[in-house]
Amino acid sequence: MPFHKRVTLQQFIAETERQAPEATGEFSQLLREIILAVKYIHYETSRAGINQILGRTGSRNVQGEEVQKLDVFAHEQLVRSLQLSGLAAVLGSEEADDYEVVNPAGRYVVLFDPLDGSSNIDVSMPVGTIFSIYRRLDPDRPITEADVLQPGRRQLAAGYVLYGTSTLLVYTTGHGVNGFTLEPTVGEFFLTHPQLQTPEQARYLSINAAARSQFPEAVRAYLDEVDARHAENPDALKPRYVGALVADFHRNLLEGGIFLYPGTVAKPAGKLRLLYEANPLAWIIEQAGGLATDGQQPILDRQPQKLHERTPLVLGSKAEVERFLYFSARELHNMPY
Ligand code: AHG
Ligand code: MN
Ligand code: MN
Repeated sequence: MPFHKRVTLQQFIAETERQAPEATGEFSQLLREIILAVKYIHYETSRAGINQILGRTGSRNVQGEEVQKLDVFAHEQLVRSLQLSGLAAVLGSEEADDYEVVNPAGRYVVLFDPLDGSSNIDVSMPVGTIFSIYRRLDPDRPITEADVLQPGRRQLAAGYVLYGTSTLLVYTTGHGVNGFTLEPTVGEFFLTHPQLQTPEQARYLSINAAARSQFPEAVRAYLDEVDARHAENPDALKPRYVGALVADFHRNLLEGGIFLYPGTVAKPAGKLRLLYEANPLAWIIEQAGGLATDGQQPILDRQPQKLHERTPLVLGSKAEVERFLYFSARELHNMPY
């Protein structure tokens, strides 16, 4: 279908707003500000080798990771758009040491991973942006850390952008999951993936198997069971691991899969961040019929303690995550293997 016959993201947002009697239009405007920043990030990401925006800045972020120039650009675009919107009260970014109060009169909390999969930038592999929006707890009280540390179940919206062979924006506001593809010549996102549901059965397994000996017993037992399935049917659960959470997540969302980033002996909490990586994707996968767990409880039920808190993350097709949880439960309750 030619793009001029499709629904644009702006039209979709407007329609969703018309259906929500309590809508004030503020929330839709906040989404539009994020979309503007995402278009600028798309522009730079798709020309990174030309615009001299590849490579490292030479500094390290609060995560202890080397910061890429595109990390900083993406972070700055999101902060600027959200600050100018006047609607976001407080921002939490992977690339900022602490949360930042930008508009004391704002009503929303916006948390984001401005550029996910940074190690892919210089080799032109897929990267992403992940965002999560909450309402502040009490607009009549000053912003505190409690406004930022809300459980994932309280999200108003969660979304990600995949800068891949095409640039897609996928998000939920609790009424299903919809995907939009950017048509760069007109600078609009068009509805291409309405009401996404993830297949119950997984086709792909995404994990950094190099750390297998360091994983908890439950994960190793699950991977042993996967090996046994592969011995019977090598196509049972194809390994696919791109090194960018958003890219692995999106493929598995569409095709069916399971993504695991477990903790290890050295780092029991794993690598991925609860607030702006695990929570938004956990809500999306649940809305699409899948599951998301830290091995002990649903990701969305966790009460965050810190802005950059890390969590083990296992999410994807319901049947496959439940197979994983069987091994977790055995370990948790010391059941005989
Ligand atoms: P970020 O670039 O935002 O720090 O995220 C990178 C994350 C995630 O995107 C990916 O799944 C994971 O790091 C890959 O980690 P390993 O390189 O340890 O496999
Ligand atoms: Mn990330
Ligand atoms: Mn990042």
